[in-house]
Amino acid sequence: MTQNLADTSRSTAAAPTAVTTAVANAGESRGWWREAVIYQVYPRSFADSNGDGMGDLPGIRSRLPYLRDLGVDAVWLSPFYASPQADAGYDVADYRAVDPMFGTLLDADALIRDAHELGLRIIVDLVPNHSSDAHEWFQRALREGPGSPLRERYHFLPGKGQNGELPPNDWESIFGGPAWTRTENPDGTPGDWYLHLFAPEQPDFNWENPAVADEFRSILRFWLDMGVDGFRIDVAHGMVKAPGLPDLGSHDQLKLLGSDVMPFFDQDGVHEIYRTWRRILDEYPGQRIGVAEAWTPTVARTANYVRPDELHQAFNFQYLGTHWDAGQLREVIDVSLDSMRPVGAPSTWVLSNHDVTRHATRFANPAGGTQIRTPGDRELGLRRARAASLLMLALPGSAYLYQGEELGLPDVTDLPDEVRQDPSFFRKAGQDGFRDGCRVPIPWSGTEAPYGFGPTPGGPSWLPQPASWAELSVEVQSGDPTSTLELYRSALAVRREHPALGAGTEVTWLDSPEGTLVFRRDSAEGSFVCTVNASAEPVRIATPGRIMLSSADAVGTSEPKDGAVDGWTVLAADSTSWWAV
Ligand code: GLC
Ligand code: CA
Repeated sequence: MTQNLADTSRSTAAAPTAVTTAVANAGESRGWWREAVIYQVYPRSFADSNGDGMGDLPGIRSRLPYLRDLGVDAVWLSPFYASPQADAGYDVADYRAVDPMFGTLLDADALIRDAHELGLRIIVDLVPNHSSDAHEWFQRALREGPGSPLRERYHFLPGKGQNGELPPNDWESIFGGPAWTRTENPDGTPGDWYLHLFAPEQPDFNWENPAVADEFRSILRFWLDMGVDGFRIDVAHGMVKAPGLPDLGSHDQLKLLGSDVMPFFDQDGVHEIYRTWRRILDEYPGQRIGVAEAWTPTVARTANYVRPDELHQAFNFQYLGTHWDAGQLREVIDVSLDSMRPVGAPSTWVLSNHDVTRHATRFANPAGGTQIRTPGDRELGLRRARAASLLMLALPGSAYLYQGEELGLPDVTDLPDEVRQDPSFFRKAGQDGFRDGCRVPIPWSGTEAPYGFGPTPGGPSWLPQPASWAELSVEVQSGDPTSTLELYRSALAVRREHPALGAGTEVTWLDSPEGTLVFRRDSAEGSFVCTVNASAEPVRIATPGRIMLSSADAVGTSEPKDGAVDGWTVLAADSTSWWAV
C-alpha cells in the first residue's frame, strides 16, 4: 500500500521555532481549538523513563518531539494525579498532586513548559464526578461517622429494609453490581450506604454541596496557573443527580444508558456548573478550553454542553460508535454537523480512546459495539482503520487521536486474566471490562519487549506487549511510505498546509455509487474532495481532481485525453483519498 502519492512537503520538519510560531498563531482569532488535532496520551502506557514498567511524566516529556513531528496541535493527558489506581487514575486522592508513580509536580511543570516551547498545547483530565475513596474528605467522612459534615460532600444515605440492609435505591454501577456500598460505623456496626456510579473505590461527590463546587473552582485555577491549556472533563454528564435520587425501576439499566436520560446522567443542572467554569477559563489568556466527556442519548443533547457560555468541545461518541458503513457514516456526519451549528461549536470526531476497543480491531470484526473480544480479520481491520482515519481528518472540526492508532495498533484481545487491571473486568455484569486491551504500552523501537517503552530491553511493562508489535514500532514504521505512521504524518502535514481540511462546518455531498461517500469542502483558500469507498469491492468513479493522499493505492486511473470522456479512477476497497480540485 502506498498513501504518499503526492509530495506533501513535510513542512513539520522545519526549524522548531518556525513551527512554534506557526502553531501559536494558527486560528488564534477564531479559536485554536476549532480545528485542532488533539492527541490523547495515556500516561501509564506511553513511555517509561525509569524502567519500573509504568509510563511516567519524564517519559512523556522525552517523547514530545515525536508528537510535534507527528503534527498534532495539542496533547490530552489522562490522569496522572495521586491515586491508588483502582480505576487507572480515574480515582483521584489528591487533585493537586502528581502520583509518585508518574513523577512530581516539577515534572508536570517541565512537561507543560517543554510542550509550549514545541508549539504543543496541553489538556489535562479533570475528574469531578467522584474522588478516590482514599481522598482525605472521604476518609474523614468515614472516620467521623454519621453527622460528620464531610459526609454532605458525598452521597451517604441510610439503607432501606428493616435494618437498612438494602441499598437506598436501585441504581447500578456502570462497572456492574449495585451503585451503593454499605459503610461500617466507627463503632463497628453496619452504617449508611454511599453512592458510586463506578467502582466502590470511586465515591460520587454531592454537587449540591457548595464546598464541592468551591473546591473544583480552586482546582481549575491551580492547573490554569500551572499553564495548562484546558481540561478534558471526565463523566461531565454525571455530577448532578435527579432530586431525591429516584429509583429507576428497571433491571436492565445498562441497556438504557445512551438511549434515555437517566436520573444520574445528563441532568439539566450540570450546565450551571459549566457556565461557572467557562467564566474561569475566560479569565485566563490564551484561550483555555473545556472538553466534555458527556455520554448523552443524542448529539443534540451533547450540543447543550458546548453552548457559547459553556464548554468548547464535547466528544462525539455517536461517531465513535458508528461501524464502517457508508450510509451510517453519512448520517452521523450530517447529524453531528447539524447539531453543533446552532450552538456555534465545532463538531469533534474520534475513533479510539482508552475506554473502547481500538478501531483497527472494531473494524476487523462484524459490527458489535465498542467492546470487542476477538481479533477478527487483522488485515481488513487495518485497511478500514486507515481509511476511517483519513475520513475523520477530512471532516470539519476537531479530531481526537488515541496514542498508538497512528501505528495501526490492534487491540490486544488475548491478555491473560491474571494481568488484567480494569476494575470492571472484575465486576462481571458491568459494561467495559476489556479496556486493558487498548491500554497496552506503545512499541517505540528494538526487537525485544518492551520495545523502547522502557529504557532496558527485557525490562518490564505493566501489561505485556504481543511479540508481533516489534514490527509495528515507531522505529520500524518511520520512513516507510507504506506505513500507517507515515500516513498519519502525511495527513497531518497536508491538513496543516491546507487549513480548509479542518475548517468550516459544512460538507457538500456529491453523488456517488452505493457503498461510497464523496464530499467536497470549499473555502476561500481552495477546495478539495474526499472519496471514501467503504465497500469490499473496488468502485470506479470519475476522477475528482489531483490526488493528494490516499489510504491505499487506487486500483487504476485514466487521465482525460483529447477527445476522450473524463478520466476515471478505481477506488480500492476500504480506502479513502483526498483530492485537490
Ligand atoms: C470515564 C473514563 C473512564 C473511567 C470512568 C470513571 O469514562 O474515561 O476511563 O473509568 O470515567 O472515571
Ligand atoms: Ca516509570
